[in-house]
Amino acid sequence: MTPETLRARLLAWYDANARDLPWRVGPGDHAAGVRADPYRVWLSEVMLQQTTVPHAAPYFLKFTQRWPTVSDLAAEADEEVMAAWAGLGYYARARNLLACARAVARDHGGVFPDTEEGLRSLPGLGPYTAAAVGAIAFDLPTNVVDGNVERVMSRLFAAPTPLPEGKAELKALVGALVRDERPGDWAQALMDLGATICRPKAPLCERCPISEGCAAFAQGDPETYPRKAPKAARPRRHGVAYILTRGNEVALVRRPPKGLLGGMLALPTSDWRAGAWDEAEALAAAPMAADWRAVGEVEHVFTHFSLTLRLLRAEGNAEGLIWTPRAGLDALPSVFLKAARAGLSNLL
Ligand code: ADE
Repeated sequence: MTPETLRARLLAWYDANARDLPWRVGPGDHAAGVRADPYRVWLSEVMLQQTTVPHAAPYFLKFTQRWPTVSDLAAEADEEVMAAWAGLGYYARARNLLACARAVARDHGGVFPDTEEGLRSLPGLGPYTAAAVGAIAFDLPTNVVDGNVERVMSRLFAAPTPLPEGKAELKALVGALVRDERPGDWAQALMDLGATICRPKAPLCERCPISEGCAAFAQGDPETYPRKAPKAARPRRHGVAYILTRGNEVALVRRPPKGLLGGMLALPTSDWRAGAWDEAEALAAAPMAADWRAVGEVEHVFTHFSLTLRLLRAEGNAEGLIWTPRAGLDALPSVFLKAARAGLSNLL
């Protein structure tokens, strides 16, 4: 199949099957001259780098209702934005998001630059996001490569080099198919094909508009692509989380600005280390002396390690803690929300 046939088939498939997503201008409207709002495209791309469309969509709606423009977001207090981000993970991204919004508001009059270099010059806006916003919001012929697109390309060409080593090779293959014609639709067509047809498991090749040109389909083993280098096992760490209540309120702390979950609200915890914590050690690391009771444990998986948190609970009062009503715990990152819910649900 020639590149031009492949493009024509995939774009025709997108015209008929584009997903209806809250940040998207569909192919029909786009052809009629409607342009996507760069702010909404940028926000969606940052959110989608760490999570799936169904998980990101409610956050996207919440953010855009509360902060309809990039200048509205830029003017918001850090803590409000961090709290609204809670549950999306990768909190450094939320801080970068604010830094970027403020640069657009302050240095560009609230208008996103309309070139890839201009976008790249914004703080925290990396090569993927610049390419995606460039293509989708400004119809620039950029090379947009996310995990979905890598998977589609690795199958199409039966790319032999395992990831991550094979990334550069795949990027070149994607780039060779970009044209000046409909670059935003093209990027989104590849993403949608990857998400709905060329799925990681059980791809729906019988419905794929380009299966005829697909080398892995011809071989009969599309699911085995992309080839991947064996992963190192994820290490496990252990910690103790302290659930200190004062009536209906729970004691929280703000984590230091740098590092994992930096700047986020949290339950007080011990260090997280390789070895488990015994009872005496857990008591010694507590934020105050109290009648601590063991109320179970929770597991959480981060990108680079798994965490087991033992839960201790007590009633008490102390200065220097952020006393928060139970209804306010939604502003906690998932790991602490999970721990708080588990610890508070056990009636002592
Ligand atoms: N995943 C990341 N960006 C996307 C987009 N713009 N449309 C669909 N899926 C995506």
